[in-house]
Amino acid sequence: MAWNGRHFLTLDDLSREDMIGLMQRASHFLDAGDRYEPDSPLSGKIIANLFMENSTRTRCSFTIATKRLGGDVIDLLGGTSSTSKGETLVDTALNLEAMGVAGIVVRCSQDNGANEIAASVGIPIINAGSGTTSHPTQALLDGVTLTRYFGKEDLSGEHVAITGDISHSRVARSNVVGLTKLGAKVTLVGPSELLPDDLGCDMSNDFDDVLTRVSACMMLRVQFERNAKVSEDYRESFGLTESRAANFDGVIMHPGPMNRGLEIDDSVANTESSPHNLILSQVTCGVATRMAILEHLIG
Ligand code: CP
Repeated sequence: MAWNGRHFLTLDDLSREDMIGLMQRASHFLDAGDRYEPDSPLSGKIIANLFMENSTRTRCSFTIATKRLGGDVIDLLGGTSSTSKGETLVDTALNLEAMGVAGIVVRCSQDNGANEIAASVGIPIINAGSGTTSHPTQALLDGVTLTRYFGKEDLSGEHVAITGDISHSRVARSNVVGLTKLGAKVTLVGPSELLPDDLGCDMSNDFDDVLTRVSACMMLRVQFERNAKVSEDYRESFGLTESRAANFDGVIMHPGPMNRGLEIDDSVANTESSPHNLILSQVTCGVATRMAILEHLIG
């Protein structure tokens, strides 16, 4: 792999080949499963999870990934840190570095938060979701999930719809970069007020029409905590309802957390009843993907 970046901040920093290299390493970890015998590349190293916003998937999978690589983890969460007394994010990171952690996984509400920390510390920084701009490890794990499903090295020839609250979505922004780099066509779908026009890909308000043309559909959560507003007919127009899913042959994804009954129906979200549902595969791929990133940067 040519990529020798010190931090993992955005997929803009990686080439297609760099992405494929990390994805293949993640696939190796997935194939090895319980038979994976770690050579403990993180042995003796402590990784700090600095999470200023809530998380289930990203934080737990980074913790599991670190432990599977033989390392240890400390968690510093927003409400319990001295940021609640006015300490800045960068000062918090500098203090963690001074305590000797080998790297920091950071989630924050500031669009440029991970970059600001990276510019100030001497240890690797991994962006675990910054504001509404970037969530590169999510996009990389989505690439792993899709390439493994389609049995291909990249996603050339595939067409992916990303549907929902695009305007508040760091997942959408990182996936536009990542999926495009892997050769997929991307169409963004949603109501006009949640559909920014600066992401450089096709856009549509007609979900049913787009579903006839795509091989994968990534549903996104309406981010009410970021003041997203949707009309009463949102589910009818943009939800992956049971009837819509019944007429869709492609694969279904969602980065989580899901608003069941709004952007996705219960019956569609439940893995058991939807054979093309990759939602929990994404979560499984997330651990392996984060192992590949940690191993490359810190191992
Ligand atoms: N997909 C994702 O980032 O989920 P969490 O917020 O639970 O980490």
